Amino acid sequence: MRTRRIGDLGVGAIGLGGMPMSIEGRPDEQRSIATIHAALDAGVTLIDTADAYHLHADEVGHNESLIARALAGYGGDTSDVLVATKGGHLRPGDGSWTKDGSPEHLKQACDASLKRLGVEAIGLYQFHRPDPRVPYEESIGALRDLLDAGKIRHAGISNANPDQIRQAGDILGGRLVSVQNQFSPAFRSSEAELELCAQMGIAFLPWSPLGGISKAGELGSRFAPFAEVAKAHEVSPQQVCLAWMLAKAPVVIPIPGSSRPETILDSVKAVDLELTPEELGRLDAAG
Ligand SMILES: NC(=O)c1ccc[n+]([C@@H]2O[C@H](COP(=O)([O-])OP(=O)(O)OC[C@H]3O[C@@H](n4cnc5c(N)ncnc54)[C@H](OP(=O)(O)O)[C@@H]3O)[C@@H](O)[C@H]2O)c1
Repeated sequence: MRTRRIGDLGVGAIGLGGMPMSIEGRPDEQRSIATIHAALDAGVTLIDTADAYHLHADEVGHNESLIARALAGYGGDTSDVLVATKGGHLRPGDGSWTKDGSPEHLKQACDASLKRLGVEAIGLYQFHRPDPRVPYEESIGALRDLLDAGKIRHAGISNANPDQIRQAGDILGGRLVSVQNQFSPAFRSSEAELELCAQMGIAFLPWSPLGGISKAGELGSRFAPFAEVAKAHEVSPQQVCLAWMLAKAPVVIPIPGSSRPETILDSVKAVDLELTPEELGRLDAAG
């Protein structure tokens, strides 16, 4: 697969989002492992996860552990696979998502993620979401300490605005390598952050790129131009969506979620789908 850069690393230009394999509606483990293995077979080398991707209160890190098992049981070489995890969100088990961006929590959470992933240092650790009760510089200061301690190799942030991206870049002394924000045909308000990342040479990882778990299948019926361009190229509207994102800037690396081999195998083909400037303009205008 064609690659793009996250810091000094090259990763396949389409990643795999792990969330659908661990939250509400998740499949059984066998299907999840088959999905991850299909992604690896297709050249995916970026897998996005988080300690908060779980359902019940007593299974924090369900998705991280699943990914660790899938990698351990894969027949091929996984040394170039970047597992990008996050800390700062919690799921108490009632369906809600709560936040804790305190340095104490982030450091404990990182230690727990290290154990679950079975690595000496986490390839990419991302601060999941700003916590309004904790000054942003304190949360990002924890990432800086984790980098300095060698517990994480690269640091990223998520759900950040342009000021927070600049602030994190300053605090981390140029070591901010990625920003993960919501971006899809239905949710375009992260375009400013995408452009800033392109200027700063920081990877931009659109989350819920297809509109989210419950809406991804309806992408073509909700946004007609995506269905029309898909028909012209005889591909899926989801593939068109990912190709459209890849064309926005060389820093964009979408992380579509998947819980079936078929969907990730379809998504990775977006890397080779060339859209014309006229098509890209129509998709830009399809809001
Ligand atoms: N940082 C954050 O705050 C944050 C928030 C949300 C998500 N995320 C990350 O972003 C990732 C992606 O977001 P998401 O999973 O919420 O939403 P998404 O990627 O927009 O949609 C996921 C759904 O799309 C379906 N799908 C994938 N490829 C497809 C294709 N080619 N054709 C048809 N359907 C396809 C999958 O269906 P099947 O399940 O049937 O395979 C999956 O359930 C997550 O997995 C997670 O890693 C981060």
